[in-house]
Amino acid sequence: MLNVPSQSFPAPSSQQRVASGGRSKVPLKQGRSLMDWIRLTKSGKDLTGLRGRLIEVTEEELKKHNKKDDCWICIRGFVYNVSPYMEYHPGGEDELMRAAGSDGTDLFDQVHRWVNYESMLKECLVGRMAIKPAVPKDYREEKKVLNGLSHEIQEDFSVRVVENVGKIEIVLKKKENTSWKRLGHPLENHNLLIPKKDTGLYYRKCQLISKEGVTHDTKLFCLMLPPSTHLQVPVGQHVYLKLTITGTEIVKPYTPVCDFLLSEFKEPVLLNNKYIYFLIKIYPAGLFTPELDHLHIGDFVSVSNPEGNFKISQFRELEDLFLLAAGTGFTPMVKILNYALTNIPGLRKVKLMFFNKTEDDIIWRSQLEKLAFKDKRFDVEFVLSAPTSEWNGKRGYISPALLSQFLKRSLDNSRVLICICGPTPFTEQGIRLLHDLNFSKDEIHSFTA
Ligand SMILES: Cc1cc2nc3c(=O)[nH]c(=O)nc-3n(C[C@H](O)[C@H](O)[C@H](O)COP(=O)(O)OP(=O)(O)OC[C@H]3O[C@@H](n4cnc5c(N)ncnc54)[C@H](O)[C@@H]3O)c2cc1C
Ligand code: HEM
Repeated sequence: MLNVPSQSFPAPSSQQRVASGGRSKVPLKQGRSLMDWIRLTKSGKDLTGLRGRLIEVTEEELKKHNKKDDCWICIRGFVYNVSPYMEYHPGGEDELMRAAGSDGTDLFDQVHRWVNYESMLKECLVGRMAIKPAVPKDYREEKKVLNGLSHEIQEDFSVRVVENVGKIEIVLKKKENTSWKRLGHPLENHNLLIPKKDTGLYYRKCQLISKEGVTHDTKLFCLMLPPSTHLQVPVGQHVYLKLTITGTEIVKPYTPVCDFLLSEFKEPVLLNNKYIYFLIKIYPAGLFTPELDHLHIGDFVSVSNPEGNFKISQFRELEDLFLLAAGTGFTPMVKILNYALTNIPGLRKVKLMFFNKTEDDIIWRSQLEKLAFKDKRFDVEFVLSAPTSEWNGKRGYISPALLSQFLKRSLDNSRVLICICGPTPFTEQGIRLLHDLNFSKDEIHSFTA
């Protein structure tokens, strides 16, 4: 059995406490963690009140179930009795009640499209809506016939993504060098253009190739994508990893990294479309990371499409880039650093201030120092909150004194971007201090869920 503490969940310092837009998670009562919910769903208790029967639900019927102790919600045509889940919902009972007795699909998607409700609520399923929701009109109008293939093609094909213009170029190679009389027909469901907001997250199973210790608690995981898969995670975006833990699918966000920082030894190869790398801190009392850590080489993990609101256009004409990272908040900075130092022509200065508890917690310290030595535009400062007496570097937590000294523009009016990522209190405090130092909203990007 997993050993999960039963106090508030996630922990107050968990990065998962605040999502973008400042919606906070609420402290849950004792015994109401995700693991406790999974246990309840496996207990055999009748959670719908229908003794396992599935029913067709009319709109009128749905509307009647709009109270906390009798609350049904429809998501993508399926109706769930969410009353038993009320006290376990990390967003709180009032948030869940906003969708009581109605179709909560849009609301659900606005807040957390990636949450795996089908698996988490499978014991709460009441049934389907009596009338299947009609396919939105736009679908039919936008239906386009794509050129399917009538002849065999080679397994290996190339994909080029031109991020700044949003173009994808796919080059397929014929298996036999003959002329094709016709191209073929679209496969089922392959001839639709569906707006991203109307699709769930797509997961592909990736194989664990290696797992390598980076610090005492953080590891570099390398996953191999399935053959013929092209997954390019844009700079600053994250994906969701999914594992089945005691019979329930659990999903958590992680930011892919490159497997190294630019250094004199390696070429700046950003696009390696076969492998995807993650730097992940293992929390012994956490829910997801111990399971991930227990995987064997060759085991599978599901990886979603990328999500996130960082845009490469934020780098346009950038002159100074400042990065503020705490702990595993370093992960988005990896691709940002590599991208910035190779792709922004007018960039004069890139500085990273990296906050940790002790020297042992610093991820890729020697790589960062090497990079600073090699590239004169780059500089790194480590700040420790619990250093040993031998530590000569900076000490403490994010503060006005540290920031005002660190954030010096290379020219009075140079174009700057400050990226900040870490546990929620760190990020919130950092944003407040940056505003106090007169940096504008457009000059700050914070990474949250
Ligand atoms: C956009 C985004 C990107 C991210 N990218 C990365 C990344 O690249 N690398 C990375 O390592 N992380 C990343 N994270 C964090 C990651 O998603 C998880 O939150 C993290 O891995 C912890 O997951 P867990 O299930 O193992 O721990 P959780 O179960 O969430 O626990 C987290 C902490 O809380 C403690 N805890 C758990 N339950 C309780 C309880 N009931 N009472 C008190 N304490 C408790 C645990 O011991 C642990 O210290 C990212 C988060 C976001 C939002
Ligand atoms: C439809 C109405 C709903 C609303 C308005 C709502 C709102 C919220 C809010 C505000 C949060 C906290 C902030 C965030 O993480 O983004 C949250 C978190 C969460 N909700 Fe909901 N929710 C709804 C339905 C559901 C349902 C049906 C489930 C079923 C499984 C669910 C599962 C979760 C989970 C697992 C989290 C934590 C996400 C994380 O770890 O970041 N929610 N919700």
